[in-house]
Amino acid sequence: MAQKVRKAVFPAAGLGTRFLPATKAQPKEMLPLVDKPIIQYGVEEALASGADNIILVTGRGKNAIEDHFDVSVELETFLEARGKTELLNEIRKISNLINVSYVRQGEPLGLGHAVLVTRTLVGPEPFAVILGDDVIDANPPALRQMIDVFEELDGPVLAIEEVPKQDVSAYGIIDAEEVRPGVYRIRDLVEKPTRDEAPSNLAIIGRYVLTPDIFPALEETAKDRTGEIQLTNGLRRLLRERPIYGCRIDGVRHDTGNKLGFLRAVVYFALRRPDLAGPFRDYLRGIDLGQATGARR
Ligand code: G1P
Repeated sequence: MAQKVRKAVFPAAGLGTRFLPATKAQPKEMLPLVDKPIIQYGVEEALASGADNIILVTGRGKNAIEDHFDVSVELETFLEARGKTELLNEIRKISNLINVSYVRQGEPLGLGHAVLVTRTLVGPEPFAVILGDDVIDANPPALRQMIDVFEELDGPVLAIEEVPKQDVSAYGIIDAEEVRPGVYRIRDLVEKPTRDEAPSNLAIIGRYVLTPDIFPALEETAKDRTGEIQLTNGLRRLLRERPIYGCRIDGVRHDTGNKLGFLRAVVYFALRRPDLAGPFRDYLRGIDLGQATGARR
C-alpha cells in the first residue's frame, strides 16, 4: 500500500519581478486575492487534502511569509480585547493548524533545485509540491484528487490540464496514454516546448505528488541552457526507472503569476464571497470606462 502523503513543499523563493513595484519590499506570495494572501490558498488546499506538514522554500526578503504563519500575540490580544471573535478565530486558524518548516534556496537555480533543497526535511516518504501561483478552486481539492490516484497506483502523479495549443510553451507538456478518463500514464515529458515540438496540449500545472527517488534523479539532472535545474527534466530521468502518472484536475485554475491571471482570480474569488458578490457584480456590470477616463482629465 502507498505511504501516506503528509508533507507539502511550497517553492517560494522567486523574485516576483512581474509584479514590481508591488513586490519590491513584499513577497508576491503575500499579494491578496480579496483578503487572503495567495500562498494561504495553497496551504489550505494542502491541509484539506491531508498534508499538514508544510515546508516552505524561501529566499531573501520573504520574512512576511514566516510572520504570516506565526502566532501574532499582539494582534490576538488586541482582537480579544475588542471582542472581535470572528476575526480572532480566523487569525488563530492560520497559526494553529500548521506545522511549518523553512529552508532557504540560496540561489535561484530553478524549480528542480528548490525541490532538491528540501531533501533532508522530506526524508524517505512521498510528498506533494504545490506551486502557489496556480490557485485551484476544486471540490475535492486538487491535491486530494491527485493523492487518490497516488494511493491507487503507487507512483508519482502530476496535475494536468488541457491548454490552448498557443500556450504550450509556458508549461511542461506530457506525451501520455489516457488509461481511464482523466488519468494518464506518461510516456514522455518536455519542459516548455515550442508549439511544433509539443507532443500534446496536456500541460503540467502546479501540483505534483512525488516519491523520494526524485531526489537522486534531480541530482543527476543537468542544468538547462538558462542555468536552471528543471523538475520536468528530473521527472524525465525518473521515468526511465518507474511509471509516472498524470491526473486531469476537475476544478477552476487561475495562474496568479501574471497580471491578467491575477486580476481574474481577484474578480473570481470576490464573486464567490457571499458578502461581496451582489454589490461587486452590480459594480462590474455598471463600469463605465468612458466616465473613468473623463474623470481623470
Ligand atoms: C513551472 C514548471 C512547468 C509547469 C509550470 C506550471 O514553470 O517548470 O513545467 O508547467 O510550473 O505552472 P514556471 O511557471 O515556474 O515557469
